[in-house]
Amino acid sequence: MRAANDGSKTGDRDLRDFSGTLVLVGAGKMGSALLEGWLRLGLAPNRVAVIEPSPSPDVAALAKRGLSLNPDLPTLRDAAVVVLAVKPQTAAEAIAPLRAIVGGETLLISIMAGRTLRFLESALEREGALVRAMPNTPAAIGRGITVAVPVRASGAQRQLAESLLAATGAVEWVDDEALMDAVTAVSGSGPAYVFLLAEVLAQAAVAAGLPAPLAQKLARETVAGSGELLHRSPLDAAVLRENVTSPGGTTAAALEVLMAPNGLKNLMEKAIVAATARSRQLAG
Ligand SMILES: NC(=O)c1ccc[n+]([C@@H]2O[C@H](COP(=O)([O-])OP(=O)(O)OC[C@H]3O[C@@H](n4cnc5c(N)ncnc54)[C@H](OP(=O)(O)O)[C@@H]3O)[C@@H](O)[C@H]2O)c1
Repeated sequence: MRAANDGSKTGDRDLRDFSGTLVLVGAGKMGSALLEGWLRLGLAPNRVAVIEPSPSPDVAALAKRGLSLNPDLPTLRDAAVVVLAVKPQTAAEAIAPLRAIVGGETLLISIMAGRTLRFLESALEREGALVRAMPNTPAAIGRGITVAVPVRASGAQRQLAESLLAATGAVEWVDDEALMDAVTAVSGSGPAYVFLLAEVLAQAAVAAGLPAPLAQKLARETVAGSGELLHRSPLDAAVLRENVTSPGGTTAAALEVLMAPNGLKNLMEKAIVAATARSRQLAG
């Protein structure tokens, strides 16, 4: 099926038939990860315009393949989709010039942490189709998870948003924007908790007498390998944990400490409460 004017094919993760104009605003870490994913899914570079004051050599090189880098904004009028991937602090400054290119049929997707749909509407001075999305860092290797909340997006626009966001990993949708604070606390900030686990496991390994390089290698590979096992297995995390815990064994001895009252569960709950509250506060 050829794409309609909204630029979408269907939600089958194939962007080869996208026939509109896609504008990426901000090609830093996350914007570049998305762009790379879109091109991998077959999006033609000549369908893409990138607005970015300091393009990386990789992004600049794409201009030779037809990508339009920092074009005059009026040439992008009525873009099918605009993806906002600038830092939340620069949002207002980045959005103001976009009023010239966001038309009645344009879908705007924002991946900015803490910037609400209301903020986007007010900055754009219009109430069009919007998707607020929260990706996470593993997007850089195509293994992220993004949670998205739509407003006024047609079915085709939602499918297009899903295909674009799925370029960096899994996508989940929610209807209630209020959930985005908890989402930010869990999957947005979550990679840092897992990296911390690798850090403290390595530190505990050194305290147990292992040489630091070996301690770091064991911690890194254990966290990464277990994450991969969890990713590939259909089993719940709790079942995988039980499967490696023999009664009265070494794992059981450690889990008795970690799962004690006030143990890891209690700490994690407090951490998520703190992050959720901070997300709410930052969103204003
Ligand atoms: N990284 C993550 O893991 C992650 C996770 C979830 C959500 N996010 C969200 O993703 C967004 C981008 O994060 P990031 O880590 O990719 O940040 P980043 O690497 O700093 O990328 C932002 C890019 O936007 C450019 N920029 C600044 N002002 C601009 C303007 N007016 N118009 C166009 N481009 C402009 C910046 O250029 P300069 O460097 O020259 O200023 C930079 O290259 C943020 O809103 C963040 O909340 C990121």
